Amino acid sequence: MKIVIVGTGYVGLVTGACLAEVGTEVVCVDVNTAKIERLQNDVLPIYEPGLLEIVKRNRQDGRLFFTTDLASALPGAEVVFIAVGTPPGEDGSADLQYVLQVASQIGQLMEHYLVIVTKSTVPVGTAAQVNRAVKNSLDARQRILDYDVASNPEFLKEGAAVNDFMKPDRIVVGVNTAKARQTLEQLYHPFLLNGHPILFMDIASAEMTKYAANAMLATRISYMNDIANLCGLVGADINQVRKGIGSDPRIGKHFLYPGIGYGGSCFPKDVKALMQTGREYGYQLRILDAVEAVNEDQKKLLFGKVLRHFDGDIRNKKFAVWGLSFKPNTDDMREAPSLVLIDSLLEAGAIVSVYDPVAMEEAHGYLGNSVTYAEDMYNAAENAVAVLLATEWNTFRMPDWQRLRSLMQSPLLFDGRNIYDNVQLTQLGFTYYGIGKTTDTVNALIQ
Ligand SMILES: NC(=O)c1ccc[n+]([C@@H]2O[C@H](COP(=O)([O-])OP(=O)(O)OC[C@H]3O[C@@H](n4cnc5c(N)ncnc54)[C@H](O)[C@@H]3O)[C@@H](O)[C@H]2O)c1
Repeated sequence: MKIVIVGTGYVGLVTGACLAEVGTEVVCVDVNTAKIERLQNDVLPIYEPGLLEIVKRNRQDGRLFFTTDLASALPGAEVVFIAVGTPPGEDGSADLQYVLQVASQIGQLMEHYLVIVTKSTVPVGTAAQVNRAVKNSLDARQRILDYDVASNPEFLKEGAAVNDFMKPDRIVVGVNTAKARQTLEQLYHPFLLNGHPILFMDIASAEMTKYAANAMLATRISYMNDIANLCGLVGADINQVRKGIGSDPRIGKHFLYPGIGYGGSCFPKDVKALMQTGREYGYQLRILDAVEAVNEDQKKLLFGKVLRHFDGDIRNKKFAVWGLSFKPNTDDMREAPSLVLIDSLLEAGAIVSVYDPVAMEEAHGYLGNSVTYAEDMYNAAENAVAVLLATEWNTFRMPDWQRLRSLMQSPLLFDGRNIYDNVQLTQLGFTYYGIGKTTDTVNALIQ
């Protein structure tokens, strides 16, 4: 089977590489010439564990190709995935211009039956718009060709994307013809051999499933952040509370970690887009209003603790920020909470030194010369009055505390991801602030 993927970003590249890995012939198309040239030389545009090996292997084996030319990619293909970006428009709705551009182009170039699949995250009703765009292009060519439009939202997590694609919890496919269903069942057959479920449904439900999933996950984060903040005030410890509630199977232990807010390329924009869909239909998603509001406040929380600790004056004081990407195991900086934290520190006159295991180059694009880029976590902390942990990379989990203490101006730690043991750190002489821990209450009372 041959497939084409249009848009070779996080989703398109991982999808293409993983489908090639199970024997499909895949052509990945992108308008970004530099990106395609790099990929043709096995240079990945993103950091994603395990992806490079798969790309290299499948390119060498002649199953994975990269091009900027959609026309040359389409002949012989049975399925075309649209995996381009759907950034938020001014009103928060998903901007569909790239998706619809690709749909029009497919209509201009196709010569035989295709299943045209939206893999980008798109609101309910998009498949119908894609259908119209393809049809308009065909009409303009005065051609009548059979095709189907389907929806196959992607649930991979950056940082674990290859594993998520190869071993999916579920594959969601929205179709409205038996032919499209059969084609996609065949495409995903290799993944079903190991018992991973494929859920066929109508197209609107498939489109909605993706938003409902991301909004649910964002809700869990904001809920836990809200409870954590209350824990800090009343003298409870969110880590204990998290374990206590997570052991109830109705709640489950995953995705219950408080922190400095959600970020990344998906949750913020998908929550906004779902709220906008609600507004378009005259329905207000009140829970998501609160989810967003809590998240906005949470991104400012650590900075608020810093300011309180220093009585509002951090001018010319040096702070080390550990972790920049929006979560570990990716170099993606889109909507990273670390950026909000760093902006606030800089605005208040602080000096900021940053370190991230993989996102340093990416961070340059966002932070320019406003911060210093350290060689490692200890170098970042030299002469700093405090370390602020923004992203919980494994490498930050067990620092050499004595060494760190000797390098810093003062042993002070703001743990934005609750990965450290407050009791141990207090014993080591550090002043410690976490999210929703009893020491926060103690420190607040001492102030
Ligand atoms: N990143 C994730 O973790 C993730 C997970 C699930 C779903 N999604 C969704 O998948 C979609 C893509 O996200 P992403 O993170 O991969 O985006 P991305 O920005 O990394 O990649 C999009 C790619 O599309 C290319 N492109 C734009 N217009 C094009 C055109 N007309 N023809 C060919 N290529 C074109 C861009 O050059 C870019 O390389 C979005 O809708 C996103 O919400 C993302």
